[in-house]
Amino acid sequence: MGSIDTPTITENGSTQSHAAAAPADDNQRPLASSNGAPESEATKKRRSGILPLEVGTRVMCRWRDGKYHPVKVIERRKLQSTEPSDYEYYVHYTEFNRRLDEWVKLEQLDLDSVETVVDEKVEDKVASLKMTRHQKRKIDETHVEGHEELDAASLREHEEFTKVKNIATIELGRYEIETWYFSPFPPEYNDSLKLYFCEFCLNFMKRKEQLQRHMRKCDLKHPPGDEIYRSGTLSMFEVDGKKNKVYGQNLCYLAKLFLDHKTLYYDVDLFLFYVLCECDDRGCHMVGYFSKEKHSEESYNLACILTLPPYQRKGYGKFLIAFSYELSKKEGKVGTPERPLSDLGLLSYRGYWTRVLLDILKKHKGNISIKELSDMTAIKAEDILTTLQSLELIQYRKGQHVICADPKVLDRHLKAAGRGGLEVDVSKLIWTPYKEQS
Ligand code: ACO
Ligand code: ZN
Repeated sequence: MGSIDTPTITENGSTQSHAAAAPADDNQRPLASSNGAPESEATKKRRSGILPLEVGTRVMCRWRDGKYHPVKVIERRKLQSTEPSDYEYYVHYTEFNRRLDEWVKLEQLDLDSVETVVDEKVEDKVASLKMTRHQKRKIDETHVEGHEELDAASLREHEEFTKVKNIATIELGRYEIETWYFSPFPPEYNDSLKLYFCEFCLNFMKRKEQLQRHMRKCDLKHPPGDEIYRSGTLSMFEVDGKKNKVYGQNLCYLAKLFLDHKTLYYDVDLFLFYVLCECDDRGCHMVGYFSKEKHSEESYNLACILTLPPYQRKGYGKFLIAFSYELSKKEGKVGTPERPLSDLGLLSYRGYWTRVLLDILKKHKGNISIKELSDMTAIKAEDILTTLQSLELIQYRKGQHVICADPKVLDRHLKAAGRGGLEVDVSKLIWTPYKEQS
Protein backbone atom coordinates (compact mmCIF):
# COMPACT_ATOMS: atom_id res chain seq x y z
CA MET A 1 0.00 0.00 0.00
CA GLY A 2 1.37 3.40 -0.94
CA SER A 3 0.98 6.41 1.27
CA ILE A 4 -2.19 8.33 0.68
CA ASP A 5 -2.59 12.03 0.80
CA THR A 6 -5.58 14.26 1.33
CA PRO A 7 -8.23 13.91 -1.33
CA THR A 8 -8.82 17.16 -3.20
CA ILE A 9 -12.42 18.18 -3.56
CA THR A 10 -13.11 19.83 -6.87
CA GLU A 11 -15.53 22.73 -7.15
CA ASN A 12 -18.46 20.54 -8.08
CA GLY A 13 -17.82 18.44 -5.00
CA SER A 14 -16.28 15.47 -6.72
CA THR A 15 -13.32 14.01 -4.99
CA GLN A 16 -10.09 12.69 -6.29
CA SER A 17 -8.27 10.64 -3.76
CA HIS A 18 -4.63 10.75 -4.61
CA ALA A 19 -2.46 7.91 -3.51
CA ALA A 20 0.84 9.67 -3.80
CA ALA A 21 3.86 7.58 -3.14
CA ALA A 22 5.77 10.23 -5.03
CA PRO A 23 8.92 8.97 -6.62
CA ALA A 24 12.04 11.06 -6.93
CA ASP A 25 11.89 14.43 -8.69
CA ASP A 26 14.02 13.37 -11.62
CA ASN A 27 11.06 11.78 -13.32
CA GLN A 28 10.00 14.95 -15.16
CA ARG A 29 11.09 13.45 -18.45
CA PRO A 30 10.37 15.01 -21.82
CA LEU A 31 8.56 12.89 -24.37
CA ALA A 32 10.41 11.72 -27.42
CA SER A 33 7.54 12.75 -29.64
CA SER A 34 6.09 15.69 -27.76
CA ASN A 35 9.03 17.95 -27.05
CA GLY A 36 8.72 19.82 -30.32
CA ALA A 37 11.89 18.27 -31.81
CA PRO A 38 11.42 16.30 -35.02
CA GLU A 39 11.56 12.57 -34.53
CA SER A 40 14.64 10.79 -35.78
CA GLU A 41 14.26 7.87 -38.22
CA ALA A 42 15.39 5.50 -35.49
CA THR A 43 12.75 6.79 -33.08
CA LYS A 44 10.03 6.53 -35.72
CA LYS A 45 11.04 2.97 -36.50
CA ARG A 46 11.05 2.02 -32.86
CA ARG A 47 7.63 3.61 -32.32
CA SER A 48 6.03 1.84 -35.23
CA GLY A 49 7.55 -1.41 -33.98
CA ILE A 50 5.90 -1.18 -30.56
CA LEU A 51 2.61 0.56 -31.39
CA PRO A 52 -0.08 -0.10 -30.61
CA LEU A 53 1.13 -1.16 -27.17
CA GLU A 54 0.12 -4.62 -26.06
CA VAL A 55 -2.05 -5.18 -23.01
CA GLY A 56 0.39 -5.98 -20.21
CA THR A 57 3.09 -3.55 -21.40
CA ARG A 58 4.91 -1.71 -18.64
CA VAL A 59 5.80 1.88 -19.37
CA MET A 60 6.16 5.26 -17.63
CA CYS A 61 3.12 7.55 -17.76
CA ARG A 62 2.64 11.21 -16.98
CA TRP A 63 0.13 11.52 -14.14
CA ARG A 64 -1.98 14.45 -13.01
CA ASP A 65 0.90 15.62 -10.79
CA GLY A 66 2.90 16.23 -14.01
CA LYS A 67 5.39 13.51 -13.05
CA TYR A 68 6.09 10.14 -14.61
CA HIS A 69 5.02 6.98 -12.78
CA PRO A 70 5.26 3.31 -13.79
CA VAL A 71 2.08 1.84 -15.23
CA LYS A 72 0.85 -1.39 -16.67
CA VAL A 73 -1.47 -1.32 -19.68
CA ILE A 74 -4.71 -3.02 -18.68
CA GLU A 75 -6.77 -2.42 -21.80
CA ARG A 76 -6.64 -0.44 -25.03
CA ARG A 77 -9.24 0.95 -27.40
CA LYS A 78 -8.98 2.24 -30.91
CA LEU A 79 -9.66 5.88 -31.54
CA GLN A 80 -11.71 6.98 -34.51
CA SER A 81 -8.88 7.62 -36.93
CA THR A 82 -7.10 5.96 -39.76
CA GLU A 83 -3.70 5.86 -38.04
CA PRO A 84 -3.04 2.27 -36.96
CA SER A 85 -1.31 3.51 -33.81
CA ASP A 86 -4.19 5.70 -32.59
CA TYR A 87 -5.23 4.02 -29.41
CA GLU A 88 -6.08 5.10 -25.89
CA TYR A 89 -4.79 3.00 -23.05
CA TYR A 90 -6.39 2.08 -19.73
CA VAL A 91 -3.52 1.97 -17.27
CA HIS A 92 -2.91 0.87 -13.71
CA TYR A 93 -0.33 2.92 -11.79
CA THR A 94 1.58 0.14 -10.13
CA GLU A 95 2.50 2.27 -7.10
CA PHE A 96 -1.08 3.35 -6.48
CA ASN A 97 -4.45 1.90 -5.58
CA ARG A 98 -6.70 0.68 -8.42
CA ARG A 99 -9.06 3.61 -7.90
CA LEU A 100 -6.56 5.75 -9.82
CA ASP A 101 -6.63 3.56 -12.94
CA GLU A 102 -7.61 5.64 -15.97
CA TRP A 103 -7.69 6.04 -19.76
CA VAL A 104 -4.67 7.95 -21.01
CA LYS A 105 -3.63 9.32 -24.38
CA LEU A 106 -0.53 8.09 -26.17
CA GLU A 107 1.27 11.38 -25.59
CA GLN A 108 1.16 10.78 -21.83
CA LEU A 109 3.32 7.69 -22.26
CA ASP A 110 7.09 7.76 -22.44
CA LEU A 111 7.70 5.27 -25.24
CA ASP A 112 11.44 5.19 -24.53
CA SER A 113 10.63 3.50 -21.25
CA VAL A 114 8.55 0.70 -22.77
CA GLU A 115 9.56 -2.66 -21.40
CA THR A 116 9.36 -4.84 -24.45
CA VAL A 117 8.70 -8.08 -22.60
CA VAL A 118 4.94 -8.15 -22.20
CA ASP A 119 3.74 -9.45 -18.89
CA GLU A 120 3.06 -13.07 -19.74
CA LYS A 121 0.66 -13.52 -16.92
CA VAL A 122 -1.63 -10.94 -18.42
CA GLU A 123 -1.52 -12.63 -21.79
CA ASP A 124 -2.26 -15.99 -20.24
CA LYS A 125 -5.07 -14.39 -18.35
CA VAL A 126 -6.62 -12.88 -21.42
CA ALA A 127 -6.35 -16.16 -23.29
CA SER A 128 -7.69 -18.32 -20.53
CA LEU A 129 -10.51 -16.06 -19.55
CA LYS A 130 -12.67 -15.98 -22.58
CA MET A 131 -15.77 -16.59 -20.56
CA THR A 132 -19.38 -16.76 -21.40
CA ARG A 133 -21.63 -13.94 -20.30
CA HIS A 134 -23.21 -16.29 -17.80
CA GLN A 135 -19.87 -17.11 -16.22
CA LYS A 136 -18.99 -13.42 -16.11
CA ARG A 137 -22.23 -12.51 -14.42
CA LYS A 138 -21.69 -15.25 -11.92
CA ILE A 139 -18.36 -13.78 -10.96
CA ASP A 140 -19.83 -10.33 -10.59
CA GLU A 141 -22.55 -11.63 -8.39
CA THR A 142 -20.76 -14.10 -6.23
CA HIS A 143 -18.80 -13.44 -3.13
CA VAL A 144 -15.75 -11.63 -4.44
CA GLU A 145 -13.53 -11.06 -1.49
CA GLY A 146 -10.01 -9.74 -1.11
CA HIS A 147 -6.64 -11.15 -1.74
CA GLU A 148 -6.38 -13.34 1.31
CA GLU A 149 -9.52 -15.30 0.70
CA LEU A 150 -9.36 -15.52 -3.07
CA ASP A 151 -7.32 -18.19 -4.72
CA ALA A 152 -5.06 -16.86 -7.45
CA ALA A 153 -7.39 -17.92 -10.26
CA SER A 154 -10.46 -16.25 -8.76
CA LEU A 155 -8.50 -13.11 -8.07
CA ARG A 156 -7.39 -13.01 -11.70
CA GLU A 157 -10.96 -13.50 -12.82
CA HIS A 158 -12.14 -10.73 -10.56
CA GLU A 159 -9.48 -8.38 -11.80
CA GLU A 160 -10.05 -9.35 -15.43
CA PHE A 161 -13.75 -8.60 -15.39
CA THR A 162 -13.64 -5.56 -13.19
CA LYS A 163 -10.49 -4.16 -14.72
CA VAL A 164 -11.99 -1.21 -16.55
CA LYS A 165 -14.29 1.20 -14.78
CA ASN A 166 -17.65 1.18 -16.51
CA ILE A 167 -19.34 4.24 -15.02
CA ALA A 168 -17.04 7.28 -14.86
CA THR A 169 -19.20 9.71 -12.89
CA ILE A 170 -22.46 9.83 -11.01
CA GLU A 171 -24.72 12.64 -10.03
CA LEU A 172 -26.15 12.34 -6.54
CA GLY A 173 -27.99 15.23 -4.91
CA ARG A 174 -25.92 18.34 -5.44
CA TYR A 175 -22.71 16.47 -6.19
CA GLU A 176 -21.12 15.11 -9.29
CA ILE A 177 -18.75 12.40 -8.15
CA GLU A 178 -15.98 10.63 -10.03
CA THR A 179 -16.20 6.90 -9.45
CA TRP A 180 -13.33 4.69 -8.32
CA TYR A 181 -14.09 1.12 -9.44
CA PHE A 182 -16.20 -1.10 -11.63
CA SER A 183 -19.72 -1.87 -10.46
CA PRO A 184 -21.85 -4.54 -12.15
CA PHE A 185 -24.89 -2.47 -13.09
CA PRO A 186 -27.51 -4.31 -15.16
CA PRO A 187 -26.46 -4.68 -18.83
CA GLU A 188 -28.78 -1.91 -20.10
CA TYR A 189 -26.53 0.61 -18.30
CA ASN A 190 -23.36 -0.65 -19.98
CA ASP A 191 -23.25 2.14 -22.53
CA SER A 192 -23.55 4.97 -19.98
CA LEU A 193 -20.53 6.82 -18.71
CA LYS A 194 -22.62 8.81 -16.26
CA LEU A 195 -25.55 7.79 -14.10
CA TYR A 196 -28.06 10.00 -12.31
CA PHE A 197 -29.16 8.85 -8.87
CA CYS A 198 -32.19 9.98 -6.89
CA GLU A 199 -30.49 10.89 -3.64
CA PHE A 200 -33.42 9.58 -1.56
CA CYS A 201 -34.59 6.26 -3.07
CA LEU A 202 -31.25 5.70 -4.91
CA ASN A 203 -32.93 4.73 -8.16
CA PHE A 204 -30.53 5.42 -11.00
CA MET A 205 -31.14 6.65 -14.51
CA LYS A 206 -29.20 7.21 -17.70
CA ARG A 207 -30.41 10.71 -18.46
CA LYS A 208 -30.79 13.92 -16.50
CA GLU A 209 -34.34 14.49 -17.80
CA GLN A 210 -35.35 11.08 -16.47
CA LEU A 211 -34.03 12.06 -13.08
CA GLN A 212 -35.84 15.42 -13.18
CA ARG A 213 -39.09 13.65 -14.02
CA HIS A 214 -38.44 11.14 -11.25
CA MET A 215 -37.76 13.88 -8.68
CA ARG A 216 -41.16 15.41 -9.38
CA LYS A 217 -42.79 12.10 -8.52
CA CYS A 218 -40.56 10.62 -5.81
CA ASP A 219 -42.04 11.35 -2.43
CA LEU A 220 -39.13 10.16 -0.28
CA LYS A 221 -37.11 12.83 1.50
CA HIS A 222 -34.95 10.44 3.53
CA PRO A 223 -33.90 6.80 3.34
CA PRO A 224 -36.70 4.30 3.91
CA GLY A 225 -36.74 2.53 7.29
CA ASP A 226 -36.51 3.78 10.86
CA GLU A 227 -34.66 6.84 12.06
CA ILE A 228 -32.76 5.41 15.02
CA TYR A 229 -30.47 8.36 15.79
CA ARG A 230 -30.72 12.12 15.53
CA SER A 231 -28.29 14.63 16.94
CA GLY A 232 -28.23 18.15 15.53
CA THR A 233 -28.34 17.80 11.74
CA LEU A 234 -27.07 14.21 11.75
CA SER A 235 -29.50 11.32 11.43
CA MET A 236 -29.03 7.61 11.10
CA PHE A 237 -31.63 5.37 9.44
CA GLU A 238 -31.86 1.61 9.78
CA VAL A 239 -33.02 -0.01 6.53
CA ASP A 240 -33.95 -3.68 6.50
CA GLY A 241 -32.83 -5.20 3.18
CA LYS A 242 -35.75 -7.61 3.25
CA LYS A 243 -38.34 -4.87 3.60
CA ASN A 244 -36.62 -2.47 1.20
CA LYS A 245 -35.02 -4.76 -1.31
CA VAL A 246 -34.73 -2.31 -4.22
CA TYR A 247 -33.23 0.38 -2.00
CA GLY A 248 -30.72 -2.16 -0.64
CA GLN A 249 -29.72 -3.27 -4.14
CA ASN A 250 -29.41 0.32 -5.38
CA LEU A 251 -27.22 1.11 -2.41
CA CYS A 252 -24.98 -1.88 -3.21
CA TYR A 253 -24.57 -0.82 -6.85
CA LEU A 254 -23.70 2.70 -5.72
CA ALA A 255 -21.30 1.55 -3.01
CA LYS A 256 -19.45 -0.86 -5.29
CA LEU A 257 -18.32 2.15 -7.35
CA PHE A 258 -16.09 3.02 -4.37
CA LEU A 259 -15.30 -0.42 -2.97
CA ASP A 260 -12.87 -2.70 -4.79
CA HIS A 261 -12.61 -6.21 -3.43
CA LYS A 262 -15.97 -6.32 -1.83
CA THR A 263 -18.95 -8.57 -2.11
CA LEU A 264 -21.84 -7.32 -4.05
CA TYR A 265 -24.74 -8.88 -2.25
CA TYR A 266 -27.85 -9.29 -4.30
CA ASP A 267 -29.21 -11.17 -1.35
CA VAL A 268 -29.82 -7.96 0.53
CA ASP A 269 -32.47 -9.68 2.68
CA LEU A 270 -29.74 -10.83 5.02
CA PHE A 271 -28.50 -7.32 5.76
CA LEU A 272 -29.37 -4.19 7.64
CA PHE A 273 -28.13 -0.91 6.20
CA TYR A 274 -27.30 1.99 8.48
CA VAL A 275 -27.49 5.15 6.41
CA LEU A 276 -25.99 8.35 7.76
CA CYS A 277 -27.57 11.63 6.59
CA GLU A 278 -27.04 15.34 6.94
CA CYS A 279 -30.50 16.86 7.21
CA ASP A 280 -31.78 20.28 6.15
CA ASP A 281 -35.11 21.71 5.00
CA ARG A 282 -34.78 19.91 1.63
CA GLY A 283 -34.47 16.49 3.21
CA CYS A 284 -31.93 14.03 4.63
CA HIS A 285 -28.92 13.76 2.32
CA MET A 286 -26.92 10.55 2.39
CA VAL A 287 -23.34 11.00 3.56
CA GLY A 288 -22.35 7.37 3.93
CA TYR A 289 -23.50 4.04 5.30
CA PHE A 290 -22.46 0.71 6.66
CA SER A 291 -24.10 -2.66 6.20
CA LYS A 292 -24.38 -5.36 8.81
CA GLU A 293 -25.40 -8.97 8.56
CA LYS A 294 -28.49 -9.78 10.58
CA HIS A 295 -26.69 -12.87 11.88
CA SER A 296 -22.94 -13.24 11.68
CA GLU A 297 -21.18 -16.47 12.56
CA GLU A 298 -17.84 -14.67 12.54
CA SER A 299 -18.92 -11.88 14.91
CA TYR A 300 -18.77 -9.29 12.14
CA ASN A 301 -20.50 -6.11 13.24
CA LEU A 302 -19.95 -4.37 9.89
CA ALA A 303 -19.81 -5.75 6.34
CA CYS A 304 -19.14 -2.71 4.13
CA ILE A 305 -18.54 0.90 5.05
CA LEU A 306 -18.54 3.92 2.78
CA THR A 307 -18.33 7.67 3.12
CA LEU A 308 -19.26 9.26 -0.21
CA PRO A 309 -16.20 11.03 -1.63
CA PRO A 310 -17.45 14.63 -1.19
CA TYR A 311 -17.86 13.94 2.53
CA GLN A 312 -14.61 12.07 3.18
CA ARG A 313 -11.91 13.17 5.66
CA LYS A 314 -14.43 15.03 7.80
CA GLY A 315 -14.80 12.45 10.56
CA TYR A 316 -17.92 10.66 9.23
CA GLY A 317 -16.03 7.40 8.72
CA LYS A 318 -14.98 7.26 12.36
CA PHE A 319 -18.54 8.18 13.33
CA LEU A 320 -19.86 5.18 11.36
CA ILE A 321 -17.25 2.89 12.90
CA ALA A 322 -18.04 4.17 16.41
CA PHE A 323 -21.74 3.68 15.67
CA SER A 324 -21.18 0.05 14.68
CA TYR A 325 -19.50 -0.59 18.04
CA GLU A 326 -22.30 1.19 19.92
CA LEU A 327 -24.76 -1.24 18.31
CA SER A 328 -22.54 -4.16 19.36
CA LYS A 329 -22.48 -2.84 22.93
CA LYS A 330 -26.30 -2.73 22.93
CA GLU A 331 -26.31 -6.33 21.67
CA GLY A 332 -23.90 -7.32 24.44
CA LYS A 333 -21.43 -8.69 21.85
CA VAL A 334 -17.96 -7.93 20.62
CA GLY A 335 -17.59 -7.19 16.93
CA THR A 336 -15.09 -6.84 14.15
CA PRO A 337 -15.33 -5.56 10.55
CA GLU A 338 -15.58 -8.08 7.75
CA ARG A 339 -12.25 -8.74 6.06
CA PRO A 340 -10.48 -7.74 3.90
CA LEU A 341 -10.20 -4.09 4.82
CA SER A 342 -9.33 -1.68 2.05
CA ASP A 343 -6.33 0.65 2.45
CA LEU A 344 -8.60 3.49 3.59
CA GLY A 345 -10.68 1.13 5.70
CA LEU A 346 -7.59 -0.10 7.52
CA LEU A 347 -6.36 3.45 8.14
CA SER A 348 -9.74 4.47 9.53
CA TYR A 349 -10.06 1.40 11.76
CA ARG A 350 -6.46 1.65 12.99
CA GLY A 351 -7.11 5.31 13.86
CA TYR A 352 -10.36 4.50 15.63
CA TRP A 353 -8.99 1.52 17.61
CA THR A 354 -5.88 3.46 18.63
CA ARG A 355 -7.86 6.44 19.87
CA VAL A 356 -10.45 4.42 21.80
CA LEU A 357 -7.94 2.07 23.44
CA LEU A 358 -5.34 4.68 24.29
CA ASP A 359 -7.95 7.04 25.75
CA ILE A 360 -8.89 4.24 28.17
CA LEU A 361 -5.27 3.34 28.97
CA LYS A 362 -4.52 6.98 29.70
CA LYS A 363 -7.33 7.30 32.22
CA HIS A 364 -7.03 3.84 33.75
CA LYS A 365 -5.10 3.34 36.96
CA GLY A 366 -3.45 -0.05 37.53
CA ASN A 367 -3.44 -3.14 35.35
CA ILE A 368 -5.96 -3.81 32.67
CA SER A 369 -6.35 -6.90 30.52
CA ILE A 370 -7.24 -7.24 26.86
CA LYS A 371 -10.44 -8.98 27.88
CA GLU A 372 -11.43 -5.99 30.04
CA LEU A 373 -10.63 -3.60 27.20
CA SER A 374 -12.73 -5.74 24.88
CA ASP A 375 -15.68 -5.76 27.32
CA MET A 376 -15.53 -1.98 27.63
CA THR A 377 -15.27 -1.20 23.92
CA ALA A 378 -16.92 -4.15 22.11
CA ILE A 379 -13.70 -4.35 20.04
CA LYS A 380 -12.73 -7.97 19.41
CA ALA A 381 -9.69 -9.09 21.44
CA GLU A 382 -7.64 -9.91 18.30
CA ASP A 383 -8.08 -6.36 17.00
CA ILE A 384 -6.99 -4.95 20.37
CA LEU A 385 -3.93 -7.17 20.39
CA THR A 386 -2.85 -6.27 16.85
CA THR A 387 -3.43 -2.55 17.46
CA LEU A 388 -1.41 -2.52 20.68
CA GLN A 389 1.27 -4.72 19.13
CA SER A 390 1.64 -2.43 16.14
CA LEU A 391 2.13 0.45 18.59
CA GLU A 392 4.65 -1.69 20.50
CA LEU A 393 2.64 -1.41 23.70
CA ILE A 394 2.55 -5.16 24.34
CA GLN A 395 5.21 -7.29 25.88
CA TYR A 396 5.14 -11.02 26.33
CA ARG A 397 6.20 -11.81 29.90
CA LYS A 398 6.02 -15.17 31.65
CA GLY A 399 3.67 -16.59 29.01
CA GLN A 400 1.32 -13.62 29.16
CA HIS A 401 0.64 -10.50 27.12
CA VAL A 402 1.25 -7.43 29.27
CA ILE A 403 0.24 -3.93 28.25
CA CYS A 404 3.00 -1.41 28.88
CA ALA A 405 1.63 2.08 28.73
CA ASP A 406 3.99 4.95 29.42
CA PRO A 407 1.82 8.15 29.44
CA LYS A 408 4.29 10.03 27.22
CA VAL A 409 4.30 7.23 24.64
CA LEU A 410 0.49 7.11 24.74
CA ASP A 411 0.29 10.85 24.06
CA ARG A 412 2.63 10.50 21.13
CA HIS A 413 0.57 7.70 19.58
CA LEU A 414 -2.69 9.56 20.20
CA LYS A 415 -1.36 12.57 18.41
CA ALA A 416 -0.33 10.42 15.46
CA ALA A 417 -3.75 8.73 15.35
CA GLY A 418 -5.37 11.88 13.95
CA ARG A 419 -8.55 13.63 14.91
CA GLY A 420 -11.23 11.90 16.95
CA GLY A 421 -14.00 12.15 14.35
CA LEU A 422 -17.60 13.08 15.01
CA GLU A 423 -18.83 11.84 18.38
CA VAL A 424 -21.72 9.41 18.69
CA ASP A 425 -24.04 10.69 21.42
CA VAL A 426 -25.31 7.37 22.77
CA SER A 427 -28.19 9.07 24.58
CA LYS A 428 -29.63 9.91 21.12
CA LEU A 429 -29.57 6.30 19.91
CA ILE A 430 -32.98 4.65 20.11
CA TRP A 431 -32.56 1.10 18.95
CA THR A 432 -33.26 -2.50 19.78
CA PRO A 433 -31.21 -5.31 18.24
CA TYR A 434 -32.64 -7.09 15.23
CA LYS A 435 -35.04 -9.92 15.92
CA GLU A 436 -36.39 -12.17 13.21
CA GLN A 437 -40.12 -11.62 12.88
CA SER A 438 -42.06 -14.80 12.29
N1 ACO B 1 -5.59 9.72 2.97
C1 ACO B 1 -4.97 9.51 4.15
N2 ACO B 1 -5.60 9.08 5.27
C2 ACO B 1 -6.93 8.86 5.17
C3 ACO B 1 -7.65 9.07 3.95
C4 ACO B 1 -6.92 9.52 2.82
N3 ACO B 1 -7.51 9.75 1.64
N4 ACO B 1 -8.95 8.78 4.18
C5 ACO B 1 -9.06 8.39 5.46
N5 ACO B 1 -7.84 8.43 6.06
C6 ACO B 1 -7.51 8.02 7.43
C7 ACO B 1 -7.10 9.19 8.28
O1 ACO B 1 -6.31 8.69 9.33
C8 ACO B 1 -8.43 9.65 8.81
O2 ACO B 1 -8.32 10.33 10.02
P1 ACO B 1 -7.88 11.89 10.05
O3 ACO B 1 -8.72 12.59 9.02
O4 ACO B 1 -8.19 12.29 11.45
O5 ACO B 1 -6.43 11.90 9.72
C9 ACO B 1 -9.15 8.35 9.05
O6 ACO B 1 -8.68 7.47 8.03
C10 ACO B 1 -10.67 8.39 8.95
O7 ACO B 1 -11.12 9.59 8.54
P2 ACO B 1 -12.68 9.91 8.52
O8 ACO B 1 -12.86 11.30 8.02
O9 ACO B 1 -13.33 9.57 9.81
O10 ACO B 1 -13.16 8.83 7.46
P3 ACO B 1 -13.90 9.04 6.08
O11 ACO B 1 -15.24 9.68 6.31
O12 ACO B 1 -13.01 9.64 5.09
O13 ACO B 1 -14.22 7.50 5.71
C11 ACO B 1 -13.72 5.44 4.70
C12 ACO B 1 -13.27 6.48 5.72
C13 ACO B 1 -15.14 4.98 5.04
C14 ACO B 1 -12.81 4.23 4.75
C15 ACO B 1 -13.69 6.12 3.29
O14 ACO B 1 -12.36 6.40 2.96
C16 ACO B 1 -14.32 5.34 2.19
O15 ACO B 1 -15.53 5.29 2.06
N6 ACO B 1 -13.50 4.68 1.34
C17 ACO B 1 -13.97 3.94 0.18
C18 ACO B 1 -14.64 2.67 0.60
C19 ACO B 1 -13.74 1.84 1.50
O16 ACO B 1 -12.59 1.62 1.23
N7 ACO B 1 -14.36 1.33 2.60
C20 ACO B 1 -13.69 0.46 3.53
C21 ACO B 1 -13.67 -0.93 2.99
S1 ACO B 1 -13.33 -2.13 4.25
C22 ACO B 1 -14.85 -2.62 4.80
O17 ACO B 1 -15.87 -2.20 4.23
C23 ACO B 1 -15.00 -3.52 5.97
ZN1 ZN C 1 -36.46 8.75 -5.71
